[in-house]
Amino acid sequence: MYLVVPMEERHIPGILEIEKLSFHTPWSKEAFYQELKNHFAFYLVALDKDKVVGYIGSWIILDECHITNVAVHPQYRRLGIAKNLIKILKDTVKIKGVTGITLEVRVSNHSAQNLYKSLGFLEYGIRKGYYTDNNEDAVIMWLKI
Ligand SMILES: CC(C)(COP(=O)(O)OP(=O)(O)OC[C@H]1O[C@@H](n2cnc3c(N)ncnc32)[C@H](O)[C@@H]1OP(=O)(O)O)[C@@H](O)C(=O)NCCC(=O)NCCS
Repeated sequence: MYLVVPMEERHIPGILEIEKLSFHTPWSKEAFYQELKNHFAFYLVALDKDKVVGYIGSWIILDECHITNVAVHPQYRRLGIAKNLIKILKDTVKIKGVTGITLEVRVSNHSAQNLYKSLGFLEYGIRKGYYTDNNEDAVIMWLKI
């Protein structure tokens, strides 16, 4: 059993741990503190008791929601946590007037692409060399809601 709640300052250490376990170039502590002050940002965390086991970040600009990051702790993967985080994000931003959700995903990241496709996201194109660490292309995906 886990709970999904809006991100608060006390969740940041747990989020940073998952960032480090999940990405070659993890976001910094300062980046997440900035997001807490950013009026466009909307973040959710999944909690197993008090432990952060996953999170999703987004920016809501007018009627579009741009997912900035999503990750689940390696020990909690394939339990449907990311899928649920995206579903809850979708239902919440819909109430805020959002009509479409978009994101970029590495062309090599097939697990994440499978996750998004399983929720109805469609591929809309490629951003060449979007990831500056290895110049990898990004697949642009959209879900109309
Ligand atoms: C991608 C990620 C967020 C998925 O989180 P998760 O909680 O394990 O995903 P879910 O359990 O909700 O999976 C839902 C569906 O996504 C797909 N999927 C998830 N992980 C997969 C994998 N490793 N291989 C293939 N398909 C996968 C499956 O269709 C899965 O449904 P199923 O388990 O019934 O087959 C997680 O693997 C992660 O944190 N990866 C590192 C960070 C990352 O790549 N983030 C995305 C950046 S764009």
